[in-house]
Amino acid sequence: MQKEFAMVVCENEMKFDALQPRQNSFDFSRGDRLLEFAQRNGMQMRGHTLIWHNQNPSWLTNGNWTRDSLLAVMKNHITTVMTHYKGKIVEWDVANECIDDSGNGLRSSIWRNVIGQDYLDYAFKFAREADPDALLFYNDYNIEDLGPKSNATFNMIKSMKERGIPIDGVGFQCHFINGMSPQYLESIDKNIKRYAEIGVIVSFTEIDIRISQSENQSTAFQVQASNYKDLMKICLANPNCNTFVMWGFTDKYTWVPGTFPGYGNPLIYDSNYNPKPAYNALKEALMGN
Ligand code: G3I
Repeated sequence: MQKEFAMVVCENEMKFDALQPRQNSFDFSRGDRLLEFAQRNGMQMRGHTLIWHNQNPSWLTNGNWTRDSLLAVMKNHITTVMTHYKGKIVEWDVANECIDDSGNGLRSSIWRNVIGQDYLDYAFKFAREADPDALLFYNDYNIEDLGPKSNATFNMIKSMKERGIPIDGVGFQCHFINGMSPQYLESIDKNIKRYAEIGVIVSFTEIDIRISQSENQSTAFQVQASNYKDLMKICLANPNCNTFVMWGFTDKYTWVPGTFPGYGNPLIYDSNYNPKPAYNALKEALMGN
């Protein structure tokens, strides 16, 4: 695997509950293990994720906070974590999944409900102060093609840029369903281009393309290969898209069946660690074929 990938990300080990299980008591052991693996193998690392509504420790979710005391918790977490990994993580997901699924403002979370609508501004300012060299991302799902949630995200990021909030990029998670249409792919391309116009990087951060178990898998693998290839081509054709990260590599270990029963096989190696058609399709795209 070390030869095949140039970037890694922790699936769970750098989330808030993993890094700060008790207030002001940090545990970097598991995150550090993957960082050491990355460094040993000349790979870059993404950081995922500083502020989220999920996978928070109970002391945080059950705490009796005021705006000021929760802002202090946010600042302490971001500063401590980013200082620990300073210079070692190239892209940080500062905030994850903060927009409501309907695209109607910020989703309900401890951060929005206690701190208020401006909590993201603070998170990005704290992050820039902690590691000025890390690229700072807003990361979300269902924001890849054009639509209400993606428009809300674009408008939020545009407004942050205009107000001088230090944000560098948007993470398109890219949890897709197999069989993406040309129109859908074209819409993703258009979306990337509108971010280029406002000087924002787009990273593909959690790609997987899930297949229904009711389909013939070998036929579906060919469609999946073509979808992976098209995605890579879109990324390569847009100068503001440089990061193509998958949410795992083998179908043996993936979050998909647990969350979407009846779906699976979303990655580029099968459950026996053999490369799938999608692997070869990505290789072709990278070689310009
Ligand atoms: O660590 C416990 C273990 O002690 C316990 O026995 C077991 C029983 O349920 O649970 C284990 O925790 C699980 C954890 O993954 C580690 O395996 C959680 O239940 C489970 O909910 C958690 O799921 C993760 C999920 O985020 C949580 O929201 C997935 O692995 C992870 O792939 C997924 O990643 C997210 C990204 O962060 C954001 N974008 C979507 C993506 C997919 O959901």
